[in-house]
Parts: sequence; C-alpha cells; structure tokens
Amino acid sequence: MLFDLGVKKKKSDFFNYENQYLQVTGNLYKEKLIAIVGIRRIGKSSLMSVIYHELKDPKVWIDGRRIQDTREFIMYLEDLASQVSLSYKAFKGLSSVGLGPVTLSFKFQKELEDIDDMIKDHAFVFIDEIQSIKGIDKMLAYLYDHTQRITFVVAGSEIGVVDEVLGGKGGAMSGRLYLNVDMKPLSRESAREFLVRGFAEAGKDIPSYEINDALTKLGTLPGWLTYYGNLRLREKHSLAIRRVIKDGKVIVSEEIDHFLSSRRNRKRYLRILRILSSGKKEWQEIYNLLKLKDKKVPKSRVSEFLSVLQGFGFVSKIDSFYQLSDPMLNQFLSSAKK
Ligand SMILES: Nc1ncnc2c1ncn2[C@@H]1O[C@H](COP(=O)(O)OP(=O)(O)O)[C@@H](O)[C@H]1O
Ligand SMILES: [Mg+2]
Repeated sequence: MLFDLGVKKKKSDFFNYENQYLQVTGNLYKEKLIAIVGIRRIGKSSLMSVIYHELKDPKVWIDGRRIQDTREFIMYLEDLASQVSLSYKAFKGLSSVGLGPVTLSFKFQKELEDIDDMIKDHAFVFIDEIQSIKGIDKMLAYLYDHTQRITFVVAGSEIGVVDEVLGGKGGAMSGRLYLNVDMKPLSRESAREFLVRGFAEAGKDIPSYEINDALTKLGTLPGWLTYYGNLRLREKHSLAIRRVIKDGKVIVSEEIDHFLSSRRNRKRYLRILRILSSGKKEWQEIYNLLKLKDKKVPKSRVSEFLSVLQGFGFVSKIDSFYQLSDPMLNQFLSSAKK
C-alpha cells in the first residue's frame, strides 16, 4: 500500500521517482558506487530498499545509524562472503582480525581479495545514512580500490556531509568516480496524484479540498504525505493534519537539537532558521535581518552558516533564494518562540 508507514520494499508501494529508479537499476552493474542523496523523508531508504529487494545477487544492507564504526562494518562483509561461498563460513572470519577503525591490516586485504574472487558475477553492499559511520570514507576508498565485483549503493540525508564522505577535497574518496542520484520533493501535481492514488488504492473517497489543504499545510515530501494518508484512512481530515503537524514538529525539533548540540554558534544558526521560517529570502535580506540582533556578525560567517545548513539539509537554495527544505520546519520554528 502506498500509505504504509516505514521503508517501502515493493516497487508497487513506491510512488513515482521513476527516473531515479532507472538511473540506479540501469547502472548497478556498471558503476562502482552509486549515491542517492536528498533530504530526510524524501524516500531515499525506500528507493534503495525497493531495489535491494529486487536483486538476486549476493547483497548486504547496512544501516549507518546502527553501527558504531568500521569495525562492525567488517561483520557485514563477512555476511556477504558467506552468501558468496558457503565454505567461507569455515574461515577464521574477518571480524576476528584486530583492526582499528582505520588501519587495515594485510590480512584484511588478503581476505577481501578472496571474497572478491569468490563472487561469480556481482555482489552489492547497500549503506543507508552513510554519513553516520565514523571513518567510512577511508574504508570505502579502500574497498572501492580493492574490489572488482562489488557495487556500493549508498544514501544519506545530510547532503553536504555525504558529499564530503564521497569526494570532499583532500578526503579519502577524492578523485573516485561515482554516480550521483538526486531526489527532490515532488511537484505539487505529483504530490496530489500520490494522495489521490493512495486513497483510491485504499478504496476511500476524499474530497479534493482536503487534498489541497493537506498539500498546502504539509508540503510535498512523501514522508509527511504518507503519514497523513495513513492517518486519514482512520480519522477526520482535521485530526489527521493536526496529528501530522504535532508529531512532525517533535521529529524536526529533535533533528534541529541534534544538529545544534554539536555546534558552536547555536544562537546564530537558530536565528537564521527563524528568519527563514517566514518565507524564502535572498542572502542580503537574511544578512540584514540577522544584523538587527547580531551587530557584529561578519558577512563571510553568514555565508558559511547558510552553507552548513544546506549541507545538513535544513535549508535549500533555489535560484538566489534560501528557504527551509521542509515545511514542517516552518511549522516548528514559527511556533517555537524563545
Ligand atoms: N515514493 C514513495 N512512495 C510511497 N511512499 C514513500 C515514498 N517515498 C517515501 N515514502 C514513505 O515516506 C516515509 C519516508 O521514507 P524514507 O524512505 O524513510 O525516506 P528517507 O530515507 O529519505 O528519510 C516512509 O514512510 C515511506 O514509506
Ligand atoms: Mg532513510
């Protein structure tokens, strides 16, 4: 069902993004590394998981938020190895090799080559939320260089951070080619179609003014629309909307808190976000508004803050305008007065 919550597994439950689907599936056996990037709740994990479930080759799925560092990562490679060759289970096992998160021993290199040799055709390593894994760039660069038959499909929501993992200047992965697959919010028309189809699939007749209202209040990110659709099957429109916004605000506030907790200049970031919560703005206007409260803020810092916020997916830039990427952020920031 289109309105099922959680990460989708079946193509028939996954709406649209046909180009991205074809871009990935058409290159699985050609590219070494495919990166799916986009903001939270756009459907990266779902796209990746639909494709993962269609694949017949040996494969592993790694959730970057669940593993601490590259040492645990190696256990997944062992899983892949045991799919590739039943006899591999008899090996001593890579995870018993005493590896620091970064230094890769000669033994590891040898084992990796063995695994790669054992793969008859092709194997796949899927890594979701790749930017969460400490030291992944060095590990990935190593695997990239030392395997022939493994393709890595990765996704991440902190867009700039993902860029850094994959190709930041001077980073471990720099200079290595990969296919970038971008996911953008649905157009208003597609978002409407998503809701219409989801309700039709569930056999529920929903008036178009409700659908319009949902699009106006929730925007066009599949995540919020799915949640709304799911709730609307069971309760009244106004209640469903209220609940999505209530829960959505909690979710985005946690994401912002998490982001701010590791930053200096928290106040400035928050000010910029608040400034943007009243609508899109050009750089100069943001700077002027910020200066009203923060007389000493240097111009160069404002640009830097904006680019960090873009990197983490909170802000996007369209033409010369900066705006919040997710309407739920507007809802949260305009209601959270401090
Ligand atoms: N194209 C889509 N069709 C149907 N449901 C979707 C689609 N994209 C996302 N969803 C739903 O939206 C929510 C967020 O999707 P998810 O794949 O977790 O996004 P991301 O990994 O980008 O944060 C999930 O409930 C998922 O089922
Ligand atoms: Mg995800």
